[in-house]
Amino acid sequence: MTKPVCVLVGAPGSGKTTVGEELAARLGVDFRDTDADIEALAGKPIPEIFIDEGEAHFRTLERAAVAAALASHGGVLALGGGAVLAEENRAALVGHTVVYLSVELPDAVKRVGLSTGRPLLAVNPRATLKHLMDQRRPLYAEVATATVVTDGRAPEEIATEIVGLLKP
Ligand code: S3P
Repeated sequence: MTKPVCVLVGAPGSGKTTVGEELAARLGVDFRDTDADIEALAGKPIPEIFIDEGEAHFRTLERAAVAAALASHGGVLALGGGAVLAEENRAALVGHTVVYLSVELPDAVKRVGLSTGRPLLAVNPRATLKHLMDQRRPLYAEVATATVVTDGRAPEEIATEIVGLLKP
């Protein structure tokens, strides 16, 4: 059984994927994203899972994807922004190096606005994101072994800080 060198958690728009890819390249390890694993498992994009089977089914697939990735991936792992909602996922993160990429609403809105494919943010993205972030901040903090502020910072700079944190 192998273990990720670093697990990234944080709200949509915190930069988990961009920073995770940069961090993995710096460390010379693979990057994995549970959202991509879920899409592979379901054989369709996340918005279609939400439309066809609903959020509860997506969360079931997400719990399976988180457990599988934590047990088998030795590189950098990014979890979907809502993964911390499940007690089972939070418990599974105990004993792992978990970096919480914190972001405030203005930067999150800017970053999320640049991409698509987040069904929960399809309607009223700013208000929804604010609500999600208010609800989840304590959960990210609960699972984190370190917190890195991402507001106004480039992915390269954030990755440099995390590399420093990972040094023994
Ligand atoms: C979700 C965030 C998404 C994805 C899904 C649900 C959420 O991942 O897992 O759309 O509940 O916040 P990102 O955090 O990578 O956007």
